[in-house]
Amino acid sequence: MNNTNKNLKNYSSKRLEKAPAYFFSELDQIIAKHREEGKDIIRLDIGSPDLPPHPSVMEKLYRSSLDPSSHGYQSHLGTKAYRQAWAKMYKKVFDVSLDPKKSFIPLTGTKEGIFHLHQACIDPGDVVLVPDPHYPTYLRGTQIAGGTPYFLPLRPENNYLPDLDAIPANIASKAKILWINYPNNPTGASAPYSFFEKAVEFAKRNNILICSDSAYTQVTFDNKPTTSIFQVPGAMEVAVEFNTLSKSHNMAGWRIGVLAGNHPILDTFLSLKSNIDSGQFLPIMEAGITALNIETKWIHERNQVYKKRRDLVLSYFKDMNLQIQIPEAAIYLWIPIPSGWKSKDFTNELLNKTAVSIAPGTIFGDQGEGFVRITLNKPLAILDQAMQKIIKWWENDK
Ligand SMILES: Cc1ncc(COP(=O)(O)O)c(C=O)c1O
Repeated sequence: MNNTNKNLKNYSSKRLEKAPAYFFSELDQIIAKHREEGKDIIRLDIGSPDLPPHPSVMEKLYRSSLDPSSHGYQSHLGTKAYRQAWAKMYKKVFDVSLDPKKSFIPLTGTKEGIFHLHQACIDPGDVVLVPDPHYPTYLRGTQIAGGTPYFLPLRPENNYLPDLDAIPANIASKAKILWINYPNNPTGASAPYSFFEKAVEFAKRNNILICSDSAYTQVTFDNKPTTSIFQVPGAMEVAVEFNTLSKSHNMAGWRIGVLAGNHPILDTFLSLKSNIDSGQFLPIMEAGITALNIETKWIHERNQVYKKRRDLVLSYFKDMNLQIQIPEAAIYLWIPIPSGWKSKDFTNELLNKTAVSIAPGTIFGDQGEGFVRITLNKPLAILDQAMQKIIKWWENDK
């Protein structure tokens, strides 16, 4: 969107100059252009599930929206029933007890909450410990709040876990937040329970808030949910958790999630949020409750669909002698590319030559150089078609 009027003031704030537009927003425009030219693009770039929510969830949205009393502003704390449904899920899935009265704040998607949490608690000079690679909003939230990111490299040789012992004491003393995200986007890695214990111990010792992003805890191929940070004794004192229905219940476009915990930061966050939005649409909360109550079998069956897709994509790389960690969860494959290529050149060239779009690793941080991310968000037949094109180009044409 270019305005050619040279007399316009610079309306961009200094804050925003530090943070370029979100990669996928720009990619949407590039892909729209390709499509206008008649190209049939297969998108395996963004992490948006292709499968629908459970039918009862859609039915609930419809029914609830027919009620004339559904359409007013809602409390920033959401409804009691909404918070109770999250408390019930935490008890059932993780055996964690959270108080439905005060331990949950509804979010219009966790991206919103993650961004705003930084605005609620980071001042210039504060350090945020950001894994590299990372979900981009940890960094953007930090930068726009004026904070300083300190990157924790996630390397294949460490199973994509950060080395908390390597954080210098002078950084730890200035750090306010430690981000952790397992199962991980973009690497697909999972973390053992002992890592969560270590993170809690580190946070207590250094008086740091852990923000645990648990977007993929229920998207697991062996169908065992992974760890909630709250399962670690004492974690409630130092941690909050971001949870979302986007991936666990195929509801990415609905914008529905939650910030959970007992930490005082929830009050600060609520006071910021009360100045920004006017609550969550009631029918979306009610459909969210239905989603949180659906039978586990539905989630398991959906997870097996992802597992088959994972295996199909991996089968294409099997003879290529690449060091690929086989993910046990989430919806991504993190693939090393041939040396000599920059990730962005690789994905651009791939898009131009094959009409398949995948994500360059560098949009998730500098450690993503040399990697690309493939999302498992297409039916097997389309994924198969995309992989044939990718591998043909990779091996012959590039
Ligand atoms: C790790 C992680 N956290 C948070 C989000 C944001 O999810 P939402 O805003 O849809 O709740 C995503 C989305 O891809 C993600 O991968």
